[in-house]
Amino acid sequence: MDIIHVENLVKIYKGGIRAVDSINLNIKKGEIYGFLGPNGAGKTTTVKMLTTMIKPTSGNAIINGLDVIKDQAKVRKMIGLVPQDLSVDDDLKGIENLELQASFYGIPKDDARERANELLKLVDLYEAKDRYVSTYSGGMRKRLDLITGLIHNPEILFLDEPTLGLDVQTRAKMWDYISKLRKEYGITIFLTTHYLEEADSLCDRIGIIDHGKIVVEGSPSELKAKVGFDVVDIVVDNPELFKNILNDVSDISMMDNKTIRFKVPESEVYLPKLFQKIYENRLKIQRIRVEKPSLDSVFIKYTGKEMREHESEEEIMRTMRAIRRAR
Ligand SMILES: Nc1ncnc2c1ncn2[C@@H]1O[C@H](COP(=O)(O)OP(=O)(O)O)[C@@H](O)[C@H]1O
Ligand SMILES: [Mg+2]
Repeated sequence: MDIIHVENLVKIYKGGIRAVDSINLNIKKGEIYGFLGPNGAGKTTTVKMLTTMIKPTSGNAIINGLDVIKDQAKVRKMIGLVPQDLSVDDDLKGIENLELQASFYGIPKDDARERANELLKLVDLYEAKDRYVSTYSGGMRKRLDLITGLIHNPEILFLDEPTLGLDVQTRAKMWDYISKLRKEYGITIFLTTHYLEEADSLCDRIGIIDHGKIVVEGSPSELKAKVGFDVVDIVVDNPELFKNILNDVSDISMMDNKTIRFKVPESEVYLPKLFQKIYENRLKIQRIRVEKPSLDSVFIKYTGKEMREHESEEEIMRTMRAIRRAR
């Protein structure tokens, strides 16, 4: 049985915005599933529906056999949610944030403390647990946020943009912690992200969402295989002769005076044969570079546009600064 089963889920906001436009999902227990898409694609809206924060306009969402509308209270006990905006309180200590969260779930004090300590150790915050969160770095806050969603031992964890606004290194560390959670607790994780590398390195399966629709779904390697081609750039001492021996390749172009670019489905199979011919023809390779398909190319193929990561990053930093000022 799929732990998350979604059928034709739709959300139309007041004013008629179709934020989520009939999506279907089947997610297995223990999977890390990534919802990848640009700003405004409908990721947060989906998470909100699956975590019972908002009601779907139509369609069904079944979480571990429970309906998000009919069994709302039971669903909430079974899931953890780490929302897009930081939810931890700056004016409390790390441990106090977790105890507060535990009290919302009616967890007895002693149990809460034990669980909190275990989680703090897991994300290397144990030493900092008695510090006020106002003294934490951005990465530490995000880690605290992460374990706050786990205090009641949920079976499924929803992470909405878990590394939003973090620098590249801190982000990579966060991925390690998230992988560790799955390994230690066997927990199912549904996360949203607009970072291609995040989805690529962390997720077992990815659904690319754009304008409220899932445009393609699969494991990172399945998705890359759909793009189909490895790109090889090569510089040799005799380009004309070389082009003749490339006669079995259809897609050949000159990038500059020297660099020849061609595309092949599997460079690891094609190149050894090519090297043999190069050797036989006494050609010399001056430079060679192979590029495997990336999620970038998948994204462009299925949405017709680039992710424009830097632009959105600017936007995020602006939002984060605004949130901090408001506090
Ligand atoms: N409360 C709301 N009322 C009206 N429109 C909304 C609301 N929340 C989000 N939207 C719109 O729905 C679309 C999807 O938003 P969202 O789910 O937040 O996307 P994402 O999380 O992928 O950035 C956007 O066009 C957004 O402006
Ligand atoms: Mg969002």
